[in-house]
Amino acid sequence: MVRIIVVYDTKYGNTKLVAEKIMEGIGEVEGIETTISDVKDIDPKKAAEYDAILIGSPTHFGGPVRGINKFIDKLGKLDLKAKWVAVFDTYLGEDFEKSVKKMEKRISEKVPRLKLITSGLSIRVDGMKGPVTEGEFPKCKAFGKKIATQLKT
Ligand SMILES: Cc1cc2nc3c(=O)[nH]c(=O)nc-3n(C[C@H](O)[C@H](O)[C@H](O)COP(=O)(O)O)c2cc1C
Repeated sequence: MVRIIVVYDTKYGNTKLVAEKIMEGIGEVEGIETTISDVKDIDPKKAAEYDAILIGSPTHFGGPVRGINKFIDKLGKLDLKAKWVAVFDTYLGEDFEKSVKKMEKRISEKVPRLKLITSGLSIRVDGMKGPVTEGEFPKCKAFGKKIATQLKT
C-alpha cells in the first residue's frame, strides 16, 4: 500500500479546496492510502513516515508562506522514510508557478532525498480571498490522479 500525505497552508481556504480536489484525484486510483492536514496540525516527523508528501501553499509576496518554508526546512533535518514529493500553489494575476518553483528549489537544496514525482501545479484564484478560477479544479483532480498512478508503477 502506497501512503501519501497532502500538507497545505491556507489563509482563506482556497489552497485547502485545491488540496481536497487533489485528494479526490488520488482516490480514483486503488491501493493508495491518503491523509490530508493543515501544516499547523502536522508534526513533520509524522509526515516523514509517508511514502510521498504533497505540499501546497498560497502565494504571498511572490512566494510560499513562512509556515510551508519552515515545514520544508524541518523535513530536511529528519531521517525520512518518504522518497517522493510534489508541490502546488494558488496565485493571483501574474504569479503563475512562482511559489511552486521556489518550493521545488528549496526542497532540492534542503531535502535532496525527496525526488519530484512531477512538476508543480499552480492554480489561479480570482481575488485575494478567491474563489478558485473556473476551470481550475479539474486540473487539481488530474494532478492527484497522475501522481497516484505514477507512485503505483
Ligand atoms: C499577504 C498576502 C500577500 C499576497 N501576495 C501575493 C503575491 O505576491 N502574488 C500572488 O499571486 N498572490 C498574492 N496574494 C494572493 C494569494 O495568492 C491568495 O490570497 C491565495 O492564493 C488564496 O489562497 P488561500 O485561500 O489558501 O489563502 C497575497 C495574499 C495575501 C493575503
